[in-house]
Amino acid sequence: MVHTRTQREIEKISKSCQIVADTLIMLEEYIAPDTPVSELDRIAEEFIRSRGARPAFKGYMGYPATLCVSIDDAVVHGIPGNKILENGQIVGIDCGAELNGYYGDHARTFAVGEVNAEKEKLMAVTSESLNRAIEQAVPGNHVGDIGYAVQSYAESNGFSVVRELVGHGIGTELHEEPQIPNFGQEKQGHLLYPGMCIAIEPMINAGAKEVYTAKDGWTIMTRDGKASAHYEHTIAITENAAQILSVGSNG
Ligand code: MF3
Ligand code: CO
Repeated sequence: MVHTRTQREIEKISKSCQIVADTLIMLEEYIAPDTPVSELDRIAEEFIRSRGARPAFKGYMGYPATLCVSIDDAVVHGIPGNKILENGQIVGIDCGAELNGYYGDHARTFAVGEVNAEKEKLMAVTSESLNRAIEQAVPGNHVGDIGYAVQSYAESNGFSVVRELVGHGIGTELHEEPQIPNFGQEKQGHLLYPGMCIAIEPMINAGAKEVYTAKDGWTIMTRDGKASAHYEHTIAITENAAQILSVGSNG
């Protein structure tokens, strides 16, 4: 079932989204060579709880941490563990929070120190593919218009789109209907209408699209070992535009 959220509900989702956006803004200054990833996870959890919310990923299907931290050829769902950030890596940080029964979900990919030109381009193209997807999230368009926007932009830049994982509806659960693939055809799929809240989350690979699940049972990795980037916004579809909810509360 696809929910139509009232303005009141959208405000609640928005509160959770602001917390996750503020969390990533707060974490940014710690993203540097030699930072233990467990430290990022610890300060993220503390920050979310200090805002009265709960880390949404922790315990979800048994996931053990507050953040998903996915380095280089890890696409998404990287467990913090005892990894240490190194110069030249790109690191996707995905964060979810729940406040008063409503969820927010948001991710960005960061450079650790100096990264090579291919990784810079991969991050820029993935981020822009999300912007283009969000522009399509308007009433009267379809889920396929979102996927088409991501896929056409990523592939025209020589990159590939992961097929196995998708964006999703969000609200009183972290993952709701409909699924939001990052590939597709214009005017195909579920109709978009005001009141829908969705998380759009392109996962773009520098090399081939194929992925596998690592031995830890969570981390999704590229088959060819090339880098992958991930950006995610939670948005609400309003009468005439997409409203990005996962933005910082003071900026
Ligand atoms: N943003 C991720 C998603 O929508 C959340 C990770 S799920 C968890 O799939 F299981 F790792 F918590
Ligand atoms: Co998500």
